[in-house]
Amino acid sequence: MAPLTNRTVLIVGASSGIGAEVARQLAHSGNRFVLTARRAPKLAAVAEEVRAAGSDCLDIAADALDPSAAEEVVAAAEAEFGTIDIALLNAGQGPDMSMDRVSVTDVSRIMALNYDVVVNYLVPLIARMGGQRDGGLIAHTNSLAGLMGIPRQGPYSAAKAASRTLIDAARVELAPKNIRFTSIHPGFVDTARISEDGLPKPFQISKKQAARNVIRALEREPAQAYFPWPTAALVRTLRVLPTPVSSLVLRKLASRH
Ligand SMILES: NC(=O)c1ccc[n+]([C@@H]2O[C@H](COP(=O)([O-])OP(=O)(O)OC[C@H]3O[C@@H](n4cnc5c(N)ncnc54)[C@H](OP(=O)(O)O)[C@@H]3O)[C@@H](O)[C@H]2O)c1
Repeated sequence: MAPLTNRTVLIVGASSGIGAEVARQLAHSGNRFVLTARRAPKLAAVAEEVRAAGSDCLDIAADALDPSAAEEVVAAAEAEFGTIDIALLNAGQGPDMSMDRVSVTDVSRIMALNYDVVVNYLVPLIARMGGQRDGGLIAHTNSLAGLMGIPRQGPYSAAKAASRTLIDAARVELAPKNIRFTSIHPGFVDTARISEDGLPKPFQISKKQAARNVIRALEREPAQAYFPWPTAALVRTLRVLPTPVSSLVLRKLASRH
């Protein structure tokens, strides 16, 4: 396992939560950073912490829903540091959303917020990394919720599953160019945006713990990383149970507050 040092790391979705914490934890290890998200002041504050820890850091406010903006961030990263060794595509969100209360527009928006944001970076990153001598690693913060249809998170589960499938195909196609792909599947993580959503969160972990797990995945580069183990074991079990049994368990879990 190679420790993460002397790499250029692009983090998309670095202004808060898991992405900001990954940047903070890696900032002491002699890496170069390109951090991006929409909220410029929050992003600038994270970038300042990274610089204070001794790492070069470029922060660029950009909306990952805009393909041209994503392309420009990738170009700016390459112009600043020459290569992009690791990209962590971390932007995404999964609000509480019951299927009898959503609009078609809500579902499309969740797909855009969790799938389009991946595609918009994936395409320009593959183009750039394909020309790099050592290829590169593209990691995506997916979710254990992407492994099955989680009640009250259906549109989010579907968008994360689509992202994983696309990345699975890219991994096979681009291995000859040494572009590696890691899908990272956290369970519930205590970040600000989900703390008030009222969803039950069994086995929730802190964002510091989540960031440590993400960094381990960036170091080891497995095709898929799952954590924490109790939630991962629960999801694995539910996937092999007969559907009537797993549906019953999921219904009970979703109704707990
Ligand atoms: N928290 C959990 O329980 C949990 C569990 C499993 C997976 N995840 C996944 O982990 C990732 C990080 O989530 P988090 O919990 O750390 O939430 P968070 O604090 O809201 O972080 C999301 C990050 O993505 C950025 N972002 C969102 N939409 C964006 C856009 N259109 N363009 C650019 N940046 C965008 C946000 O910044 P701006 O708002 O400033 O743009 C923020 O920096 C997400 O993909 C989420 O699905 C979270």
